[in-house]
Amino acid sequence: MPISRRSFVLGTGAAAAGLALGPGLLRAPRAAAAGGKASWLADTVLYQLYPQSFADSDGSGIGDLRGIVDHLDHLQWLGVGAIWVNPIFPSPLTDAGYDIADYTGVNERYGTQDDVALLVEESRKRGMRVLFDLVAGHTSDQHPWFEQSCQDDRDSRYIWASPDQLPDDGTLPDSFVKSPGPRQGAFYKNYYETQPAINYGYARMNPDEPWRQPVDADGPRQNREAIKQVMDHWLQLGVSGFRCDMAGTLVKDDPDKAETAKLWAEMHQWLDTHHPDAVLISEWGDPAVAVPQARFDADFFLQVSGPGDGAVWRSMWDENPYFGADGTGSAKTFVDAFNDAREKIGEGGHIMLPTANHDTANRLNNGKRTPEELPAAYAFLLTWPLVPALYYGEEIGMKMIEGLPDVEGSDGRQRNRTPMQWDSGPNAGFSSAPADKLYIPQDPDPNRPTVEQQRGDDKSLLNFIRRLLQLRKDNPELGTQADVRVFGDGYPLTYLRGDRFLVAVNPRRDEASIDVPDSRVPNGKPVEDSGVRIDGQKLTVPGFGYGVFDLKS
Ligand code: GLC
Repeated sequence: MPISRRSFVLGTGAAAAGLALGPGLLRAPRAAAAGGKASWLADTVLYQLYPQSFADSDGSGIGDLRGIVDHLDHLQWLGVGAIWVNPIFPSPLTDAGYDIADYTGVNERYGTQDDVALLVEESRKRGMRVLFDLVAGHTSDQHPWFEQSCQDDRDSRYIWASPDQLPDDGTLPDSFVKSPGPRQGAFYKNYYETQPAINYGYARMNPDEPWRQPVDADGPRQNREAIKQVMDHWLQLGVSGFRCDMAGTLVKDDPDKAETAKLWAEMHQWLDTHHPDAVLISEWGDPAVAVPQARFDADFFLQVSGPGDGAVWRSMWDENPYFGADGTGSAKTFVDAFNDAREKIGEGGHIMLPTANHDTANRLNNGKRTPEELPAAYAFLLTWPLVPALYYGEEIGMKMIEGLPDVEGSDGRQRNRTPMQWDSGPNAGFSSAPADKLYIPQDPDPNRPTVEQQRGDDKSLLNFIRRLLQLRKDNPELGTQADVRVFGDGYPLTYLRGDRFLVAVNPRRDEASIDVPDSRVPNGKPVEDSGVRIDGQKLTVPGFGYGVFDLKS
């Protein structure tokens, strides 16, 4: 069956109220913006892998590039299409590598440039691509660019306030840090004090802040060119694109983000000319802006920023979440935001919704959920028209571990960064180092989930996710390009994909029912089903249950 190239999302208020479906209720997106560009992203599954914690090949206790290569078969078996590797560059590690001292080098604890080439090549052989992190907003205070800037009053690669621009009482404006010298004055930091912000200028001038420079001043122009060279270096080595760190914050005091968007659109234009198959994915948190305006190929809903400052992500996974056993949440915030973003994006790019990441988006298995709650979440995530993004270990339901020591500026985030659990051997197969030498201690639970144990169990989360990814691959009706019609955004969340697959997920403890206005329901063929009852057009989904039904067979 030919599938529509256009995506629709039904206004869910109407659906929840039980109104009949009709074309008048469907909202079409804007016309396509960039048809064909980086189309591989549309059909892929992204796997985020934290290199320190994924696999240690040399017994150092810290993961490395060869370790990743050793486990590519697992990712291929799972159905992953692209891996995003967090920073592997030389760094003093005050923010676990997000403080870069050399953009085009490799931190020796991870390996060499040859290992990068090997990773790219071995991934390619298995039909997978490699994406790196692009931390364009700041460097380490030990980067030669910053060291140079500290020597030279005229250097404007960073944001500097000179002594005569600073208050007489010795205080510093917000986000400024006293210069380490010999240059006098203060520099602007992005995150930690060790992360001086690269100068991309300000969107507007302010006489009270005379250090502000326009976006087309010398420093900002040089910086944009320098970042293109960084991208070029890795793209030449075969990397397929970047996840762009703190992408929405590059130009300062840019309330509507127009100047930041222009900057990234320029980056993308350069990419289109020089590396047309490469993609940029933003850490922006607002796909409705980041994709159509800043020209990113995809953006994540995140736990912060964007509509309601992270409300979309949190409404699904955290803070009275829809995916919560009490069943007091609603999927409406997400569905509405998705609808809005999809309409603004058209076919110009994609939306992502991670379950977790290395920051404050905590693991799905966060100590509140039980493992039986996890499959419903994936039944949704892998059948919705998002580009699925899996954080390492989520595929086996690894637990968020509280009470671990801080490491390399993790500041609490170590709870999501524990070593991958491969098998029942020492250190769960992550490393041959003594346990006290591991980057972060393992989950101490003797029954911790492992890849080995779940691979052998058809009923495991791992095999369930693998089957869903295969189903998605085999059926474009479940991919990013096909329609979604929402019948209900309460419990169960129920929708039709590509006029063919009916999906119902019920993440609450109690069963939930819905009348589906589609006469094909009684004859629907279960594809994945945890015990859904069908009575006429009424579905009753057990607690923590899900069902995917093929209505075309
Ligand atoms: C991003 C990264 C985070 C890092 C911060 C500063 O949010 O994901 O890990 O600490 O940027 O670079």
